[in-house]
Amino acid sequence: NQKQYLVDGELKDWNGNSTEVFSTISSTSDYKPTLLGTIPDMGEPEALNALDAALGAYKKGQGVWPTMHVKDRIECMETFVEKMSSKREEIVKLLMWEIGKSLPDSEKEFDRTVEYINDTIEDYKQLDRNAAKFQKNAGVYAHIKRGPLGVVLCLGPYNYPLNETFALLIPAIIMGNTTIFKPAKHGVLLITPLLEAFQSSFPKGVVNIIFGRGRAVAAPIMQTGKVDVLALIGNSKSANALQDQHPKSNRLRLVLGLEAKNPAIVLPDADLDLTIDECIAGTLSFNGQRCTALKVLYVHEDIIEEFNKRFTEKVDALKFGNPWDDGAKLTPLPEPSKPEYIQGLIEDAKTKGAKILNKKGGKTTENYIWPAVLYPVTKEMRVYQEEQFGPVIPVVPFKDIEEPLDDMAESNYGQQVSLFGKDIYAIAPLIDSLVNLVCRVNLNSSCQRGPDVYPFTGRKDSAQATLSVHDALRSFSIRTFVAFKDN
Ligand code: G3H
Repeated sequence: NQKQYLVDGELKDWNGNSTEVFSTISSTSDYKPTLLGTIPDMGEPEALNALDAALGAYKKGQGVWPTMHVKDRIECMETFVEKMSSKREEIVKLLMWEIGKSLPDSEKEFDRTVEYINDTIEDYKQLDRNAAKFQKNAGVYAHIKRGPLGVVLCLGPYNYPLNETFALLIPAIIMGNTTIFKPAKHGVLLITPLLEAFQSSFPKGVVNIIFGRGRAVAAPIMQTGKVDVLALIGNSKSANALQDQHPKSNRLRLVLGLEAKNPAIVLPDADLDLTIDECIAGTLSFNGQRCTALKVLYVHEDIIEEFNKRFTEKVDALKFGNPWDDGAKLTPLPEPSKPEYIQGLIEDAKTKGAKILNKKGGKTTENYIWPAVLYPVTKEMRVYQEEQFGPVIPVVPFKDIEEPLDDMAESNYGQQVSLFGKDIYAIAPLIDSLVNLVCRVNLNSSCQRGPDVYPFTGRKDSAQATLSVHDALRSFSIRTFVAFKDN
C-alpha cells in the first residue's frame, strides 16, 4: 500500500482516507480485478503544503536550486537516474498490472525514459557550453543563458505514466524550476518505488509528489495564482479547467500535450502489404490508447475493397492476452468504462449507415472490446468526430485528395498524418500542403512521437509548446542575459 508521499524533502506517512487501485488484469478466470494497493486520497491542505514547499525551494528565484551551478544540478539528476535504473523490474511489472501494457512495451517505456533522462542531461550540458560563449553585436557584448520560470505543476497521462510524465518533470527540474507532481489515476503505484530516489537525489522542496483527484489537489493549487507553469499531458477539458482556476492565467506558461485525431491517407498506388502493417500498428498499438495513434483511415476508392478485406483479416488474426503472454498485441483495457464507450461509438455509426467489417469486431468481455473496423464512416458519426483513444477503427473512402485535406483543415486537431503512396511526383506537392495542417508528416509509416530528440507538438487543440529532449528544456525556461558595451 502506498501510504507515503513526498513534500519538502520528507517522506511523510499518510493517515487519511485512501483510494483503492485495481489491476487491469484478472488473476481469475471469472473476471475480477485484483486489488493492487491503495493511494492517499489527499485534499487541499496537503496540496497547499506541497505548493508552499515548492515556493520555498524556489524562493522567488533566489533558492538553492534555481541558483545552483549547472554541474551540481546535473550531479543530482545523475544520482536520480542511477537509483531509478535499479527499479526496472518492479516498475515494468506495475506497468503491466496497472495499465495492461505488454511486456515488450512496458520494458520499452522504462528504457526509453532512462534514455530520455540521459539525453536531457547531455543536451543540458550542451546548452550550458553554448551559454558560456559571449556574443557581440553592434558594439554590445551579451552573455545569454536560459533561466528557470518558477513553480511547475505537473500532471501526466495514464497511457505513459512513467515516460510522458517524466518528459515533463525531468526537463522542468533540470532547468532549475521547482515542482509539484501528481501522478495519473491509472499507473499511479509505479511512482512508489521512486519516492525515495526523488527524496535523496534533490534538495528539499524541488520535487513534491502528492496523490488524489485532480479536482481535489490540482485545482486549489491553481487557485492561489502562484503556479508559473502548468505542464500536462492529457485532455484539453482538464487543461482548460485548471487554467481557468488560475486568477492571473495570462502569466501562466502552458506546456500541454493534448488530443489528436491523426489520419492515414492511403493513395491508390500504395504498397498495400506495408500500408496494412503500418495501419495495424498505428491504430492498435497499446489498443489505440496513444495520442499519436492513427484514429481515422482515409483510403482511396480504387483500392478500398482490397484494403478493407486484407486489413480486417489482419485485425481479427491479432492475439489477445495478458501483457506477459508471448505475442499478445491486444491486452486488457485499464479504464473500466472504455468497452461501453466504444460500444456507444459503434452503435452510433451503425445507425448512421456504417457496418462492422470484421467478424470479431465489437465483441465485448469484461475488460476488453475487440477492435471494430467501421465502414463507410461519415462526418456525422461520433467515431469520426471524437478522439476514440481505444480499439475502434473508422475507415473513410475518398475519391479526390482534396476531401481528406479539407477534413484536416476543418479539424480541431493538428498533430500528425501518415501518407502512404509510391509516386514521388504525387507525394511531393501533398507534403507541402500537409505540413501546414499538422506538425509531422510520416511517409509510408504510422504516426509516432519518437525518436525523442525530434520535436513533438501539434497545431490547434493538440498541443501548446513542444516536447522533445531538445525542445522541452526550452519550454521550461526563459532566455536571460547580461549585456555590456564595448567602451
Ligand atoms: O499518447 C501519446 C504519446 O505521446 C504517444 O507516444 O508515439 O511513442 O507511442 P508514442
